[in-house]
Amino acid sequence: MTILKLENVSLSLDEKPILNNLSVDFWEGHIHAIVGPNGAGKSTFSYVVMGLSGYRNITGTIYFKGQAINNLTVYERARLGISLGWQEPARFEGLTVAQYLKASKKDKGMSIEEAMDVVGLSPQEYLQRACDKTLSGGERKRIELASLLVMQPELVLLDEPDSGIDVEALERIFDAINILKERGSTVITITHSMAVLKKAEHAFLMCHGDIIDKGSIDKISGYFENKCIPCDHKNIPVLGEVQ
Ligand SMILES: Nc1ncnc2c1ncn2[C@@H]1O[C@H](COP(=O)(O)OP(=O)(O)OP(=O)(O)O)[C@@H](O)[C@H]1O
Ligand SMILES: [Mg+2]
Repeated sequence: MTILKLENVSLSLDEKPILNNLSVDFWEGHIHAIVGPNGAGKSTFSYVVMGLSGYRNITGTIYFKGQAINNLTVYERARLGISLGWQEPARFEGLTVAQYLKASKKDKGMSIEEAMDVVGLSPQEYLQRACDKTLSGGERKRIELASLLVMQPELVLLDEPDSGIDVEALERIFDAINILKERGSTVITITHSMAVLKKAEHAFLMCHGDIIDKGSIDKISGYFENKCIPCDHKNIPVLGEVQ
């Protein structure tokens, strides 16, 4: 069953088209991956689905579980169960890690201690620390993932979940993604990593603000060897420009 559907979604920012008539469906309870070059519009896609301010002025329709959500605020979408793990996770000045995770906690999510164990951060060492710039980028990324585990949203968008993550911790990130799925979440990862792509069940290639190819992981992983081959306006020199 489709959980998230975008139908002819376009968005311009500062008069520049960023999303171009994008139509795509995601399956409830499955893990999906979106790959594509820098600037393709992947993070923008996640902001538009989340309904962040500055990303609401779209044409087309976003459906979540069959309901058009264009007019809903970010808070209303969060209440429906849509959640985003940021490419650059936010800091929460003035909160400890424990307070931040407690604010995210929902009954159906796992306990705070369990979630910290899954992401490989010792609760004793981290829970009383400030959730601010004194945490490293990778630590913040893992704590944000722990916040999603305690929340267990219906739909989790993960923007580059592996960025800044060391080799060993990457396995913890994969464990977290699998747990989210096993416990019923739909997951959409956005990634430049073949390893993250391989953990998905369905893959999408995004270029110039549109999904230009989709299918099996094997099919879409060809992008990493061949770059944006299915796309006719990227990585191909314009005739006459190249001597
Ligand atoms: N407010 C804005 N005004 C103008 N252009 C913008 C604005 N925000 C984003 N863009 C442009 O939109 C395009 C898509 O950006 P986006 O961050 O979605 O790309 P991405 O696919 O996530 O790239 P990356 O892989 O580097 O994270 C980029 O060309 C970016 O410069
Ligand atoms: Mg991005």
